[in-house]
Amino acid sequence: MSEEPLRRVLVTGGAGYIGSHVIYSLQETRRYKVVSVDNHHNSTPKALVRVAEIARNNLPTDASDKDKDSAEIDAFQADLTKPDEIRKVFATYGKGGIWGVVHIAAYKAVGESTEIPLTYYANNVGATISLLQIMKEFDCTRIVYSSSATVYGTPPVIPIPETTRLQAHSPYGKTKVMCENIIEDICSAEPDTWRALSLRYFNPAGAHPSGLIGEDPRGRPGNLLPLLAQMAIGRVKDPLLKVFGNDYPTPDGTCVRDYLHVLDLAKGHLLALDALAPDSRVFAGIASGQPRFKGYNLGKGKGMSVLQIVEAMRKATGFDYKYEIIGRRKGDVPDLTADPSLAEKELGFTAPQTLETMCRDLWNWQTKNPNGYDGSA
Ligand SMILES: NC(=O)c1ccc[n+]([C@@H]2O[C@H](COP(=O)([O-])OP(=O)(O)OC[C@H]3O[C@@H](n4cnc5c(N)ncnc54)[C@H](O)[C@@H]3O)[C@@H](O)[C@H]2O)c1
Repeated sequence: MSEEPLRRVLVTGGAGYIGSHVIYSLQETRRYKVVSVDNHHNSTPKALVRVAEIARNNLPTDASDKDKDSAEIDAFQADLTKPDEIRKVFATYGKGGIWGVVHIAAYKAVGESTEIPLTYYANNVGATISLLQIMKEFDCTRIVYSSSATVYGTPPVIPIPETTRLQAHSPYGKTKVMCENIIEDICSAEPDTWRALSLRYFNPAGAHPSGLIGEDPRGRPGNLLPLLAQMAIGRVKDPLLKVFGNDYPTPDGTCVRDYLHVLDLAKGHLLALDALAPDSRVFAGIASGQPRFKGYNLGKGKGMSVLQIVEAMRKATGFDYKYEIIGRRKGDVPDLTADPSLAEKELGFTAPQTLETMCRDLWNWQTKNPNGYDGSA
C-alpha cells in the first residue's frame, strides 16, 4: 500500500454533469481527496451524495482508513464569483493544503450567452480570475481547465488539431478563449510557479453505467442526446425532432459532431492532473523560462451526424423518433471532429467507448431517473 498521503484536489462545478463524473474518476484511484465547490446554479447536491455512494461501494473489503477517506467528498456550497466564499474554502486547508484545481464550473449555454453576455463574462471569466488569485495566495499553482471545441469557431481543417487558431463566435466561446489566454499568461509570467493544462472537450455523452449519476439539464435540453432521451421517456412531448439543415457538406447533409463517453472524458482529467506532477513528462521539452501551459483536444476523433445519433438512440430506447428537417440554425458549424492524437501521445488519453455504449448508459440513467435527480431520494 502506498504511504503517500491523498492529494487534495479542488473540483469546481463538482455537482454538475461533467464534474460528478470527474470526481468519480478521481475517487476511483483512491489517490485523491476531492473538495467540491459548487453553488448549484445548475445542479443539485444529490449528485455529490450519489457519486460518493459509488466510491464507497467500490472500496475493497480490506479498505484502509485512507481509502475510506478518498471516497468522501468535502463539499462546499460556494459561489466562485464571491471571493470571500472561495477564500474560506482554501483557508480550511491552509497554504499548500490544496494540491491542484480542476476548474469545471461555468455557464455553458451558447444561445443564452448571446442574450446575457455580461453574466457569462462575470461568471466564466471574472470568477476564473478571482479563483486564480486565491489559488496563488494559498500556494496552489496547478490547474486543469475545462475548455471546449467551441474555441475553434469555424475550423479551417477537420479533424481539428490544437494548433488551429482560437476564434470563438459566441460570448460563451469567447469566455473559454479568454480563460485559456489568462491561464497561459500567468504561466508565462511565472513559469517556475504555474503549471496548467486546458482540456478542449468535444461532445460528452452518456453516464456512469450504475445510473446513479448523469446529465440532468434544467428545462428543455439544449443538447441533442439528452433531448432524445427526454423525448423517449416522455418528458419532452414534442411530436417531431427539429433537424437544423440537411444540406451541409457532410455524408448525410446533417451536422457532424465528435461524441465521447463522459467517463472517457473524465479519465482525461485524471491523466491531466497526474501530468501536473513534478515528474511529469508533458512539460519535459519546455525550456526553462517558457510557460508550462498546454491545450489538448479530448474527443474520439470520429464524427457522427445528427441522423446517425437519432438512429443510435432509436436502437437504445426502442422509441420511434419522428423528425422534420428545418432550415440551418445560425451559428452552426458543419463539422466539429477532433484530432485527439496529441492528447493520446502526451497524456495517454483514449476514448474507446462506442456510441452504442453512450446511448445505452444515457438511457439507463434516464429510465432510472425519469425526472433527473428531482423526485429521487
Ligand atoms: N457538457 C458539454 O457538452 C460541454 C462541452 C464542452 C465544454 N464544457 C464545459 O464543461 C464544464 C462543465 O459542463 P457541464 O456540462 O458539466 O455543465 P453543468 O452545468 O452540469 O456543470 C457546471 C457546474 O458549475 C456550477 N457553477 C456554475 N457557476 C458557478 C459559480 N459561479 N460558482 C460555483 N459553481 C458554479 C453549476 O452549478 C454546475 O454544477 C463547463 O465549463 C462547460 O463550459 C461542457
